[in-house]
Amino acid sequence: MRLNDIRLPTLFEQVRVKTTDDMGLKTMADTALLVQEIRRLKKERHAIILAHNYQPGEVQDIADIVGDSLELSRAAASTDCDVIVFCGVDFMAETAAILSPEKTVLLPATDACCPMAGMITTEEVTLMRKRYPDAAVVCYVNTSAAVKAESDICCTSSNAVEVVNSLPHTRIIFVPDQNLAQYVARFTSKEVLPWQGYCIVHDQYTLEDVLEAKRRFPEAKLIVHPECRPEIIDAADKVASTSGIIHTICSSEEPGFIIGTEVGIIHRLNKECPEKQCHPLSVHAVCRNMKKTDLVKVHDALLHLRPRITVPEDIAGKARRAIDRMLAV
Ligand code: 13P
Ligand code: SF4
Repeated sequence: MRLNDIRLPTLFEQVRVKTTDDMGLKTMADTALLVQEIRRLKKERHAIILAHNYQPGEVQDIADIVGDSLELSRAAASTDCDVIVFCGVDFMAETAAILSPEKTVLLPATDACCPMAGMITTEEVTLMRKRYPDAAVVCYVNTSAAVKAESDICCTSSNAVEVVNSLPHTRIIFVPDQNLAQYVARFTSKEVLPWQGYCIVHDQYTLEDVLEAKRRFPEAKLIVHPECRPEIIDAADKVASTSGIIHTICSSEEPGFIIGTEVGIIHRLNKECPEKQCHPLSVHAVCRNMKKTDLVKVHDALLHLRPRITVPEDIAGKARRAIDRMLAV
């Protein structure tokens, strides 16, 4: 073995060896060192860090781009970096891998998944197609690559209405989110056939939550994500994707808002419009999968170029068609 073959531990690895807890982070100085190492590795790997609006604050703070599903898909498709570190859940990293197959796509928290994406299978899409042969299949981006491959077109929460209305079909099978499907049905003359999936975080808001929040903050406007149930949508002043919520609040004259989406979004709101009073509709609206990423995992992903997300080309090719059609709308 030559001397050049021996890789010296990074500065952060040296610190971690000396500590005893699993995270290896004891002090602010350790965190600062870790951030420094992430920046150094990012440069060395020619990498970009993408983070969803629900990610922990510390992860959002080291990201190059923080955004909603559509913004992050566009960033993944257009970056000239060799490595994409996707701080989010599995379907998001899969979408990046489908759009940029020549790049190394890393998902630092390998077990971060979206339970709603697991609520529809390819077999179920095939059954729906057989039952309604004249209908187009629109799949929410919160689906597996295999389900995307069986769909005509993909959509996100920020373009679902436009995507459905762009199709010539009069009947639409919409999978898997029944709440988003019902929201879209309000803005189209087409028949929308919803699958019975739902987001375990947004579907838990109740009218009692709304009444309680309005009692506590009577002047605040209610702004919610379209994954919420219809009665919450009815009670809201505005419905938007996660980035839509941020842009609406930051450009509004209103001083206060009640936010009906995952609590991680409050970090970006506090940074980008600190003068606004932003109150979560429920402090229990936490997506545990989105919280599985941390700085240590981001560091380790960059160091070892693992865990890597790849999609077999026979599935990726078909899924890419559905995503590209969406991006063209
Ligand atoms: P956005 O595309 O609005 O960021 O939503 C993603 C998501 O998973 C919401 O729960
Ligand atoms: Fe999936 Fe809901 Fe988490 Fe979004 S908030 S990633 S839809 S479980």
